[in-house]
Amino acid sequence: MRGRVLSVASECVPLVKTGGLADVVGALPGALAGQGWEMRVLMPAYRSLRRLAAGWPVVWEEADLWGGPGRVLAGEVQGLSLMLLDAPHLYDREGGPYAGPLGEHADTAVRFAALSWAGAAIARAGAAGWVPEILHAHDWQAGLAPAYLAYHGAGAAKSVLTVHNIAFQGLAPAHLLGHLRLPSAAFHPDALEYFGKLSALKAGLITADRITTVSPGYAAELMRPAFGMGLEGVIAARAGVVSGILNGVDTSVWDPARETPGFSAKAMAGKAKARAALCDTFGLEVPGPLAIIVSRLTEQKGVDLLPLVTPGFVEKGGGLIVLGSGEPALEAAMQGLAARFPGRVAVRIGYDEALSHQLFAGADAVLVPSRFEPCGLTQMYGLRYGTLPVVSLVGGLADTVIGASPATLAAGVATGVTFQPVDALALGQALDRLVALHAQPKLWSKLRANAMAHPVGWEVSAAAYASLYDGLIR
Ligand code: ADP
Ligand code: GLC
Repeated sequence: MRGRVLSVASECVPLVKTGGLADVVGALPGALAGQGWEMRVLMPAYRSLRRLAAGWPVVWEEADLWGGPGRVLAGEVQGLSLMLLDAPHLYDREGGPYAGPLGEHADTAVRFAALSWAGAAIARAGAAGWVPEILHAHDWQAGLAPAYLAYHGAGAAKSVLTVHNIAFQGLAPAHLLGHLRLPSAAFHPDALEYFGKLSALKAGLITADRITTVSPGYAAELMRPAFGMGLEGVIAARAGVVSGILNGVDTSVWDPARETPGFSAKAMAGKAKARAALCDTFGLEVPGPLAIIVSRLTEQKGVDLLPLVTPGFVEKGGGLIVLGSGEPALEAAMQGLAARFPGRVAVRIGYDEALSHQLFAGADAVLVPSRFEPCGLTQMYGLRYGTLPVVSLVGGLADTVIGASPATLAAGVATGVTFQPVDALALGQALDRLVALHAQPKLWSKLRANAMAHPVGWEVSAAAYASLYDGLIR
């Protein structure tokens, strides 16, 4: 074994998921095991997880973790080594990981400071004899973990912070500084202070030994005002320790050949069947390309452009199925499209993992018109299922899809359709290109075969994380 890593995060598949963060945190331990690194995941024992962990041994505890006892329980779920931080006064609540029925919790900063504190304590001194060499923190919720190592002692531990989305920074009022067990000397612009507030993400960016983000493209973008969201200077100042490592997808979970008989780049009868079944289910008849969107419905994802481009797409023969949930205005806009184009557009508001698989299996294209996208997973599912990605040229989207152009078509390497800038004109033009490509069956089959041959597994990226860890400890 090369070493041990404690991964600290607020969500993890198969236990709790609101987005791609959970997929990545859940997939990394398996991917790294293949590289000789043992990774355990520390996350809060939310209400839904307390029963699962009830019989597990306690490996760490603190009598007063911000107003009540905190205990870390260790166990295994589906081959994943988990450490759950049980602190009922912080996590035993109704609702999702971040919000209850009345919205975000008032003590959000403390809830994730406690997670970070426990992570730092275990990295520093171990838990029941298990001592990690590396603490790997994910996003702002774990951003204070490297800071606690820096300000309260790190022992032999090194730290890595991965930015999955810089839009979420974990800002808290300055008066919480002492309460969060942070030294007053840390409250200045070169440390944790951010425009008069405390920033958990900035704390991690300043104090971690290494910073990674989830694509090389986003790593470069993050140093610009248009993408850095106020932290571009902080990241640029640490450019020497910043790297971009592309996410992979779990190819045993996203496995079209297993899910759909007759599914291979050469024999696509299985896909045709899956498409027919989808059209049946949703009452659609689509002569041109059938596109899907599987996404959070937020400004980031560019879905507000759809009402502007769908009329033209439908007129040219296209169809669309949207699966998502998010901002009420965007949900309403999507439902408005379905009402306006019956037989061509269908919308399912909600979260449905099984349906998402059926959509990738049956559709011709997946749309990802994001304004920014640190990595993005659905374009990679699209590649794997021969469901051509139509993506904006940002972040991880630009790093994973080769857009059809005269040059890439001549070279025979295109895997999808790309566009920029992120506006209705460019997206509409991209959909026009999609329709034109779809009308050329031989070319379409070639694109689909290219897409399906594109590697989207974890192998390369797991090796990159492993060598990052190696570099830190040797
Ligand atoms: P983000 O993390 O920014 O939301 P990603 O593309 O990295 O974006 O990850 C989103 C993940 O959530 C993917 O696994 C995607 O399939 C899934 N997902 C998003 N919305 C839904 C939904 N409504 N139903 C099922 N899966 C969804
Ligand atoms: C974030 C990003 C997304 C990325 C995911 C996993 O949620 O928005 O682009 O794929 O994290 O890293």
